[in-house]
Amino acid sequence: MDSKGRVVIKLGGGLITDKTKSKTINMSAIDKVCKVILEIQNEGYDLVIVHGAGSYGHILAKEMNIANGIDKNNEHAQRNAVKKIREDMLELNSHIIESLKELNLNVAVHPPSKWAKGIGIKFEGDISIFEKESNGIIPVCFGDVVDRDDKLEFGILSGDDLMYRLSVEIPDVKYTIFLLGDVGGVMDLPPTNPDAKILEIWSKNKFVKTKHNTDIDVTGGIDLKLDRAARISKHVSEVWFLDGRSPERIIELIRDGETIGTKIIV
Ligand code: IPE
Repeated sequence: MDSKGRVVIKLGGGLITDKTKSKTINMSAIDKVCKVILEIQNEGYDLVIVHGAGSYGHILAKEMNIANGIDKNNEHAQRNAVKKIREDMLELNSHIIESLKELNLNVAVHPPSKWAKGIGIKFEGDISIFEKESNGIIPVCFGDVVDRDDKLEFGILSGDDLMYRLSVEIPDVKYTIFLLGDVGGVMDLPPTNPDAKILEIWSKNKFVKTKHNTDIDVTGGIDLKLDRAARISKHVSEVWFLDGRSPERIIELIRDGETIGTKIIV
């Protein structure tokens, strides 16, 4: 069957882990999303999967100040932490791969620490490895600690930056989907407010107050995600923030053209 195009999906760290407790997996959330990934493939789309770190990355990275690069006073401990975070990310990734394989899906994992350098949307690395997969093989990558060419030596490449380059540089991307862990989309009020409602549409010009938990998030939370999504929407017409706890909404979106969630427009 000819492909209907590509769907690029990010499983947010807050969906697949408990962000507050070190290395706590949410396997039922992962399994639920993976079943939907199978359905998307059965609908005739190619997929690219990105996932976040949640408590497999942010907690230790924050503690050891990894996002700001090398600190000569704490070099040794930091290098150990970089190694540990990379191992922990592979461990988290293996849970997702396990779930995909149980559904007989074929995957190719590309850990960013092995092919990417630098941080932000201009990070270096050959994205074409993601379009070369054939026969329904799903390429997978994740937010990671990567090397940097400058004197800071290492930094954190967010899955949201990977989403940007994967969505705009790979041809034929029809949908870019950010699956969130605890909200139904972009909210009009802080999600803790009981009156908060899901915005059907979000555009960069519309100011929305967001609460970013700087205690645990080393990359930039919802604001970074919104910035990247807005940039992607200049190239991809369907960019959505959806509730990862109800992943079947992706199927609804690709079949009916709409669902509950927030569409990001330029
Ligand atoms: C962060 O990746 C990577 C590390 C902390 C190692 P993300 O920024 O994509 O992760 P989440 O989705 O916020 O957890």
